Order: sequence, then C-alpha cells, then structure tokens
Amino acid sequence: MNQPETLVTLQSAVQAPAHVRHLRLLAWVRDMAALLQPSAIHWCDGSEAEYDRLCAELVAAGTLRKLDPAKRPNSYLACSDASDVARVEDRTFICCERREDAGPTNNWMAPADMRATLQPLFQGAMRGRTLYVVPFSMGPLGSPIAHIGVELSDSAYVAVNMRIMTRMGRGALDALGADGDFVPCVHSVGAPLAPGQKDVPWPCNATKYIVHYPETREIWSYGSGYGGNALLGKKCFALRIASNMGRRDGWLAEHMLILGVTNPQGKKYHVAAAFPSACGKTNFAMLIPPRGFEGWRVTTIGDDIAWIKPGADGRLYAINPEAGYFGVAPGTNEQSNANCMASLERDVIFTNVALTDDGDVWWEGMTKTPPAHLTDWQGRDWTPEIAQATGAKAAHPNARFTVAASNNPALDPAWDDPNGVAIDAFIFGGRRSTTVPLVTEARDWIEGVYMAATMGSETTAAAAGKQGVVRRDPFAMLPFAGYNMAEYFGHWLKLGDRLVASGAELPKIFTVNWFRKDADGRFVWPGFGDNLRVLAWMLERVEGRGGGEEHLFGITPRYQDIHWHGLDFSEAQYRSVTSIDRAAWADEMKLHEDLFERLAHKLPPELLSAKAAIEARLAA
Ligand code: GTP
Ligand code: SPV
Ligand code: MN
Repeated sequence: MNQPETLVTLQSAVQAPAHVRHLRLLAWVRDMAALLQPSAIHWCDGSEAEYDRLCAELVAAGTLRKLDPAKRPNSYLACSDASDVARVEDRTFICCERREDAGPTNNWMAPADMRATLQPLFQGAMRGRTLYVVPFSMGPLGSPIAHIGVELSDSAYVAVNMRIMTRMGRGALDALGADGDFVPCVHSVGAPLAPGQKDVPWPCNATKYIVHYPETREIWSYGSGYGGNALLGKKCFALRIASNMGRRDGWLAEHMLILGVTNPQGKKYHVAAAFPSACGKTNFAMLIPPRGFEGWRVTTIGDDIAWIKPGADGRLYAINPEAGYFGVAPGTNEQSNANCMASLERDVIFTNVALTDDGDVWWEGMTKTPPAHLTDWQGRDWTPEIAQATGAKAAHPNARFTVAASNNPALDPAWDDPNGVAIDAFIFGGRRSTTVPLVTEARDWIEGVYMAATMGSETTAAAAGKQGVVRRDPFAMLPFAGYNMAEYFGHWLKLGDRLVASGAELPKIFTVNWFRKDADGRFVWPGFGDNLRVLAWMLERVEGRGGGEEHLFGITPRYQDIHWHGLDFSEAQYRSVTSIDRAAWADEMKLHEDLFERLAHKLPPELLSAKAAIEARLAA
C-alpha cells in the first residue's frame, strides 16, 4: 500500500475528515476504537454550531437543562450523579517504572500492572456510545510554548466543557499538522450501553481510575465525568504531565493564578499565587479594589494553572495554558466577586448548582436571602425551612461554573500573549483557621521554598473525602505534582540558583492566610477585595519600601505598614490574624518534621537547614 492509500484507509476507518492527515493520530484512534468499541466516532471541530448541537443532544439526554434565555442566555445546568462530584485523589495514580520517581505523596503502580488492570475496564467501555475525538491546545494555538493533547471521550459533556476550557477543535488539529507531538488522553465514563438499554442523565462508574504514565506521556481516566477527573487538559495534563516536562526542560507547571496589578502611579506588576483547591485563586485573580484603593486595578491572566519559564533576561515568564475557568460557585456574589458574577451572565455551563423556579441558578452565598423554593442539585425540593431543619445544601459545596476567559470583564490584555508576563512575586497560601499569620515575606528564596514546601491547609469539597482536616499541601501541589515531591522541591531550588547565576533578581516569595477565625468560628479578615491591602504591601516590599517586623520565619507588616483607608479594622483585630503563638508553632514544626521524614529520600539539605534555623529561633 502506498502512503496516500494508508492515509485514506485510516481516515475512513475512523470516520475522520479529510483534513486530518496525522498518521500516528489516525492509527491511535483506530487502535483505541478497536479497544473501546464505540458505536460512532465524532471528530470535534470546536465550532459554535457543533457546541450548540452537542448541548441540544445533552438537553435531550437529560444531562443538561437549558436555563431561561432571558435570565441566563446561552447557559445550561448539569447535575451529576451524587457519587461523582469532585476529584478522587485516592484513585489518582502516577505510573512510572520506579516507585521512587512518583515519590511517597503519590499513589503508584508499575505501568505494566496498571495497564493489565485497566485493559478489561476499557475493553468495550464505549459500547453504545459515541467516541468524541477532542483535539486541544494548552496555551495559545501554534505558539512555541503551547502543547497539544487529544482526548478521546465518550462524554459529550466533556467535549463541550473542553471547548470552553481549552483551545479545542480544528485549530488544534491544524497546529498538530501531519506529525506534531500530542499527549494522548483516553477518557471513559465506564458505562457501556447494551443494545436498547436506556441511558441515565449522568453515566459514571463506581470504579474510578485517574492514571498518568509520565514516561510515555499518556493519561487514562475511567469511571468519572466530573471536572479534573474528566477534563484531562487541566490537572492531568497541565499539571501532572507538564510538571514532568518542566522538570526535564527547566521550567515550572504550577497550581497558580496569574494576575496583573497596576498601582495609581500606573506601574504594573505581575504576581503568581498558589492556593490549594477552593482556597481563593479565582477570587484573587478577579479582585476588585476595595474602598480607599481607587486608582488601583487588578487584571486576570489565569485563575488556576501557570506554566512558568525562565526568559533570556533571567526573569520568570508565566502563561496561563487554559482558555476558561472551571470555578467554585458557592460563596460567589456581587460583593465578594462582582467580576466573576459579570462573567457568569451568559454562555455558562453550571454543574451541581440549584435551579430556581423561574429557570435560573442559585447557590449558597449568591444572595443574602435565598429564594423561597428551589430544586436542589439532586433534583429535590429545597426551601430555606428544609435547609434549616436538615442542613441540606441547595448547591453541592463543590458546584462549579465553566465559562470562557473572554467573558471576564477584568481579563488582562496579555492573557494569551505567548511570551507570558514577567513575575515579580510568588504567593503561597493555605486555609488555616489558626496559627498561620495573614502575610509573611520570606527573607530569601530558600526560606520561601521552605514555607511553600511545608504549607498546611484544611481540606475542601474540591476533592472527595473528609473536609476541614489540616494536611500538608506543599506548593498547593500535593494532588498535582507528577513526580517525587522531594525532587520537586529540589527543582525549585535549582531554578533559583540558575536565575541567580544569570545575574537576575529573583521574585520575592510571600505566604498568606486569609482564613484565620475568631472564637466564634467567624473569619476575622474580610478577605476578597480587601486582600489588595496585603498585596499592596507586598508590592511596596518588591519596590524596596514598606515596613515590617522580622519573626521566626520571615517578615510580617506591622499594623501601621498596611493602608487602612476605607476599612474599619482595629489593631486588636489585626493582631488576632497576625499573631504568632510560639506553642502552636512548636506543634506546627512537628508537622513539618513528619513531612520531611516522609520525604527524607532526596529531600534537599537546604530545607533541613532552613528548618533548623526556625527551630533555633523558636528555642531562643
Ligand atoms: P479551585 O478552582 O478549586 O482551584 O479553587 P480556587 O482556589 O480558585 O478558590 P475560589 O477562588 O473559587 O474560592 C473558593 C471558596 O473560598 C469560595 O467559596 C470563595 O468564596 C472562598 N474565598 C475566596 N477568597 C476568599 C477570601 O479572601 N476570604 C474568605 N473568607 N473566603 C474566600
Ligand atoms: C481543583 O480542584 O483544584 C480544581 C477543580 O481546580 S478540578 O478541575 O475539578 O480539579
Ligand atoms: Mn484548582
């Protein structure tokens, strides 16, 4: 057979359009179709017409409900199966040849064993369903920093969400050309249909596997249709696989928002901030300056993931590989995040929020007074009285919206600049009701890496499992680092050395905690827009101005170092969110110790020295 015949034969075998000329891609789809046995194959072109058609099919299938076009134009509500509402960290695996390369914080299985485990699950997994071929680009189409993936999924819900979250469709295929590299991603909800079998609105399987093979750069996801389990460009590719790529090639893939902040003098800075899941990234990235900060402006580059590379000038440049936001709905309102509310006016897919009687959506915290009656995310009647009596939530705590970045009124003009933006400061923040002060500046890169590495945070509804439990979440990457966490710390330290060697000034590193509570369990710090008060102090420090007080593990502003105009926040309140309780920190250091014992193999010695220095100051 000659070359063109092979191409034509392959194209017809997998129902590919004539413009798909990538033999490896076609052959892979053919092989996967043989394994998965779908009843049809659809190559997504990413067009609006395709999106509308798939949404209409999802409405007919009962997966989506179209919201009232007068209230929420071009928007839909999906309600998932009650068992499939969040990422499943205990079912997430890094499958490299050697266990130590995955490290002690990741679930591991040898690739051959995992392949043998998955084979019978994926065999025939798409029977009775359509296989959607979803080509996507993480990063601007055709840009040198972008990477392409192709997700094969039996979920049209995944296909429409991927169109919002990534540059999906014909453009990605064209960028791939006839022999470009792509990360193969296979996703099945794990619910094949027998002939004549009626489908359910949200097919999924009690058995779930979210599997990464870093050495061959493959992703295999089984059993879930939800978020990070199923939209494989996001956590699976842009963090777990990309962190491996960055480790090899000298860059960083981080769970970070990226924002631009312009002061009244017109000077613009860029900041990247890592907070664990459901700990405030989207809100910080869309911040609206509070009263007293007229003339300031915050603009969004990204709200969840940053790819960060050293530039020729020795500075670090960050890009957002995504094209949309898959954000937490509960708690979002006109006061806390008006930019987000404006983003959600139209063109949204909501998942697991409540439905109002007039065809709109509602979630806890959206309005002060809840509607008198709702249909909750599980399709049950909900009233404020029922909620009072039973504690039933109208929206699931991990209910989310999917919306294009272009809907955001605060979108930064450079948000899709292939060169990225130069980072002036890194921020790391956990959710801690006690112990950790509002803000601390690290005195140097190593102290900053130490604070990020040992960060603790209370678990949230973004992952299945118990909530509110303090755990170590290094760099907010515990669930997302695709290789050994101790080596990941080393990678950060090495990058710092390399930048210093090139004569560049390193970005400053800060840690924050917006979430200290009082004796009655209420947040003391107002948060949201008022977080700009803290950010403004950080920028003064970057400029070499701004006061502060040295303590056990860094520098924290004194009351008089923060601009308070427009906010009534007493010195006593300030003390209650910045105080450092030595006994609590002695306990905290034991948790650092536990983490370092766990990561002892390959732990960089600099971090042990940083720890010893804090312990010595604590003992003094
Ligand atoms: P992921 O999408 O899971 O990665 O989450 P995220 O880090 O983007 O968190 P997000 O901004 O969506 O916030 C999660 C929850 O925390 C929401 O309910 C917010 O209302 C709440 N939140 C965000 N910022 C603040 C803050 O400054 N103070 C307080 N008290 N709550 C906040
Ligand atoms: C997170 O959990 O950090 C998210 C949501 O951003 S998900 O895409 O489901 O991972
Ligand atoms: Mn996230």
